[in-house]
Amino acid sequence: MKIMVVGGGGREHAIITKIKENPNVTEIFALPGNGGIAADATCIDIAATDIDNIVAFAFKEKIDFAVVAPDDPLVLGCVDALEAHGIPCFGPDKKAAIIEGSKIFSKDLMIKYGIPTAEYAKFSDMEKALEYVKTCKIPIVVKADGLALGKGVIIAETREMAENAVYMMMQDKKFGESGANIVIEEFLEGPEVTVLSFTDGETLIPMISSQDHKRALDGDKGLNTGGMGVVAPNPYYTKEIAAECMEKIFLPTIKAMNKEGRTFKGCLYFGLMLTTDGPKVIEYNCRFGDPETQVVLPLLKSDLLTIMKACRDGTLAKTAVEFEDKHVCCVVMASKGYPEAYEKGFEITFEDDRENIFIAGAKLVNGKLITDGGRVLAATRTGDTLKEAIDAAYAAIDKIHFEGAYFRRDIGRRALNA
Ligand code: AMP
Ligand code: GLY
Repeated sequence: MKIMVVGGGGREHAIITKIKENPNVTEIFALPGNGGIAADATCIDIAATDIDNIVAFAFKEKIDFAVVAPDDPLVLGCVDALEAHGIPCFGPDKKAAIIEGSKIFSKDLMIKYGIPTAEYAKFSDMEKALEYVKTCKIPIVVKADGLALGKGVIIAETREMAENAVYMMMQDKKFGESGANIVIEEFLEGPEVTVLSFTDGETLIPMISSQDHKRALDGDKGLNTGGMGVVAPNPYYTKEIAAECMEKIFLPTIKAMNKEGRTFKGCLYFGLMLTTDGPKVIEYNCRFGDPETQVVLPLLKSDLLTIMKACRDGTLAKTAVEFEDKHVCCVVMASKGYPEAYEKGFEITFEDDRENIFIAGAKLVNGKLITDGGRVLAATRTGDTLKEAIDAAYAAIDKIHFEGAYFRRDIGRRALNA
């Protein structure tokens, strides 16, 4: 079987590593992939958002199954285009991907169907938004409606910050059209949990819960990033809370999407806050998380490709989805300065083999792996205890080198103390 994976980060590297375990897979193409993924797949220089060329490539190569991993091609309708050309895909169609593509859509959906989330107001008029900010409770959270590379959420601790966020999105158009409409919502407190799930639109199977570390610096300080490390399972996410989430959030979401004529198939990502009022949805994503995927998939015992096909074909209820009962930790190595300006172009060297080292931002130059992004790679290690997994992940990081390498030293510390 010939497989095509659209995307080129650490998440895609983890997906490809897992798909390769299926003995029927003869070739995997990554579009565009990256210098590290090139060790495991054939990288094709087509951008993940270049849908016409993705479809043309898949058609020409007679791809048997495609996985569309990132948010932007999903929201643009990449799955619809591929399926229209007879190429079966894992991932939601455009109508369903709106659950991530529009925060206003997802907030309205939750309210309409009684799914617990933060209270909110939505605005298309800047003056009205500014007026609201004058009297609302502080802190408050200002969110661009559309996709914004993970940067469209501002936690405003003062009224002035909230006003600035509104100006930045609606007047200065920092996120382009994505900020033409905004959501202003209640600030929630509590431990955060990510739950990725497989769904075929009827059955939903949650994967192992995880805990991302979004801030750049130790102690959860500094700027928000795409994620500096993850541990799984998340110790705050007990069996009781999992059952409550299934009943009040996961299944109602699947049913709500069906009622709206937007059946969701693929990986549905639940970003949850465990508040004193119970679990609430912070956000939905229409895809695997990055770097959550890099901890969850290495624990998957069942065949990923079989599960992905079952999600598309509506046969998930009859498909085995089993995870190892272990702990796992993933530490991200970034370029110094990330998420702000950073230098790239430094050679990456490895003292050990690269098993479960997922490459995100690197390219191959004359056979050498060279840094080419903010988040460069992530090292994932498992253990019988969380402590073992954390120690092993840091031991792996110690054996990888490049100039200006930066990583947090405290990934998993909060989970250890939970
Ligand atoms: P997002 O880009 O939607 O994942 O949001 C980025 C981060 O902002 C989340 O992971 C949360 O830590 C935080 N966040 C988003 N919405 C809220 C909220 N209503 N209350 C508190 N924190 C939030
Ligand atoms: N790690 C957060 C995300 O994938 O959106």
